[in-house]
Amino acid sequence: MKYLRYLCLSICLGTAMLLTIMSSNAQERDINGARNSSTDGTSLDTNVSFTLRMTLAGEDIPLDSATLGEDVSVTAIIRPETEDIGQPTDVILVDFLPPNLNMRNADGNFVSWNGSLKTLVPYLEDVDLESELEVEVFSGQLGTTGNHRIFVGFTVGDALYFTPTALRFDINEAVVEASALEQAVEFFESTISPTIVQARCIACHVANGLADDGAAHIFVRTSNSDHLTINFDEFRQVHSANSSEYILQKVQGMLDHGGNTLLTAGSTGFNDLSDFLNLLDQAATE
Ligand code: HEC
Repeated sequence: MKYLRYLCLSICLGTAMLLTIMSSNAQERDINGARNSSTDGTSLDTNVSFTLRMTLAGEDIPLDSATLGEDVSVTAIIRPETEDIGQPTDVILVDFLPPNLNMRNADGNFVSWNGSLKTLVPYLEDVDLESELEVEVFSGQLGTTGNHRIFVGFTVGDALYFTPTALRFDINEAVVEASALEQAVEFFESTISPTIVQARCIACHVANGLADDGAAHIFVRTSNSDHLTINFDEFRQVHSANSSEYILQKVQGMLDHGGNTLLTAGSTGFNDLSDFLNLLDQAATE
């Protein structure tokens, strides 16, 4: 890349990137090349073409997304001008992850690129061009989530051929499934605590309340800053000492509930409580 001093290209790449932002995701991209040289500037008048694809490592299906932490493989097939077959080339990779431009250097690392050709470095040097040269552009984990736009280029003498548009794919955040216990805690905090415990039960199930004498459920009011944790644990204990069914019957006034009927089957409150108890059942088996 010793000869790269073509200033126009950064403007061209800039335009190409804008165009790319507007084009849709493709899984495997065939891209006609563009050519830049110090004497001729940039032109699309070349037979060079590229095919770019991203797959999971060891797999063959082109993808338009992968999950952070997955090993991916990005490959490019380079088809040079016939007269350039056999010539040595340097291969370039630029990953545009708005607003950052990164290029892959010879150590294999992604380093920030300022968009100027003077500072562009190849990641592969002195490879012989073949009629179809397949190169691994990247393999491993892409450490940053977002929509990656991969541009590939190669040199022949003082000319640079490159993809004027990009291969685009998303690297997504890994979705961690919440455990039933975590879901139960969340549901308790968002719904059960305000609409059931504090609204319906605390009248009696509280220190010195009507249920204080005979009941095991003793809740604390919201004036206690730990009420969510304390009341959740209280509920869990009554649940594990009995069963979901037992609690659901009590709130329907069955089993001689000291508080009579508080929630009728099919009401929103009853269904919420039932969902919550289901989560506690699941949590008990996790
Ligand atoms: C009007 C007062 C009153 C209200 C309101 C009330 N309870 Fe009770 N509850 C009692 C009394 C008294 C007992 C103890 C006698 C018995 O076991 O039924 C009791 C007992 C229970 C028991 C048996 C386990 C235990 O804690 O000893 C459950 C389960 C229960 N209540 C659930 C609820 C739930 C859930 C709510 C809110 C939706 C609620 N109760 C609201 C008075 C009430």
